[in-house]
Amino acid sequence: MGSEASMEGPDWVDPWTRGQGEARARALFSQTWDGEAKGVWSAPGRITIIGEHTDYNGGLSLPTVTPHRTYVAGRAREDGRLRVVSEAGDWLEGPGRTWECDMDLIDPTTAQGWPAYCAGVVWALRERGFDGPGLDLAITSCVPPGAGLASSGAVECATALAANALWRLALDSDEAHAELAEACLHAEEAIAGAPTGGLDQHTQLRCREGEALELDFSEHPPLAQHRPLYFPDYGLGLLVIDVRTAGRRRTEGFVERQRQCAAAAQALGVASLRELAGAPDARMRIEALADPVLKARARHVVAEIERVSDVCAELANTGPAHERFVHVGKQLYRSHASLEVDFDVSSADLNLAVDSAFRAGVLGARLVGAGFGGSAIALVRRAEADHVAARIDEAFVAEHRPRPRFLMV
Ligand code: GLA
Repeated sequence: MGSEASMEGPDWVDPWTRGQGEARARALFSQTWDGEAKGVWSAPGRITIIGEHTDYNGGLSLPTVTPHRTYVAGRAREDGRLRVVSEAGDWLEGPGRTWECDMDLIDPTTAQGWPAYCAGVVWALRERGFDGPGLDLAITSCVPPGAGLASSGAVECATALAANALWRLALDSDEAHAELAEACLHAEEAIAGAPTGGLDQHTQLRCREGEALELDFSEHPPLAQHRPLYFPDYGLGLLVIDVRTAGRRRTEGFVERQRQCAAAAQALGVASLRELAGAPDARMRIEALADPVLKARARHVVAEIERVSDVCAELANTGPAHERFVHVGKQLYRSHASLEVDFDVSSADLNLAVDSAFRAGVLGARLVGAGFGGSAIALVRRAEADHVAARIDEAFVAEHRPRPRFLMV
């Protein structure tokens, strides 16, 4: 089985080093805008360990970041224009590689396609009273787009950090980065027209490499507690399986899920579904809902928030490591089942990724991000990652599906 796959081996997406990313962004800058960039700023991709579709329900989530980053080289101008070049502009939706606009004229009609994600941030910062001269920017990235790893959030956050430095805003503390994250999600909603719950941007601006962030969205902006990532110390890692079928239904499906969760909360008489997590009568109240769709959506959100608390406690625990990670892995599988059945955001390819990862012996696996295509993650022993990726790759070849790409975190 899968001779083609095993001959060629799995397709790994290796991260650039910081030096490589910065050099690429600087080169793109000077080829396009003449002269040198003043500096390069970057932001990572986001991986949710557990806690999906909980952010806009006032819930909990436990994300981390990828070593894959988006780099923005920049320089302040003497006028009020914004000029941007994106290395990916040739194949992303939008105007091509370069785009420019007077900063005062940025709105959803002038910034369409990929420029919305950087111009939107400039707009949102100025809306909040943070201002400065026009900017020349050059964007390049090794965060795979459409893979459920918040590649658009990475563009927003790297742009926000560039503006922060070039406008000398000195928004450098965790609290200040929370403010930048809020500006980024405002940009995504108001200019790019893509609603989001804030998980991506708060992770991408507040989580450092090698740590996990416990985010609590019952507060606004969400409270962030820095945790060790734990996995590398125990020879474990997260294998990302990008199934390369970015869902066209993503935005539409996401808006619908937000609406359904709000309707479920209203029917249950709570301000947000978070209020039911951990409540002894939560299951009974949810099961009493008349609408089967709202019932299923509420069931996922409440159980997922409880799983986040459970996984955080388990990771911080001091019991035998093997038992703890087996338990965490089971919670990942449960999260996937709940996202597939109750939240209805999985796909045949994501299910194949999780099933084949299970058959390859991983500790746990689940879809990551919003769903509707994108990626799954698997908790693996690092020493077995190559073998596991090869087994998953073969399963996709055997099913005549596009071969996945793999990242290791
Ligand atoms: C997308 C959104 C986030 C979050 C996740 C699902 O990435 O942008 O806000 O809702 O989906 O957990």
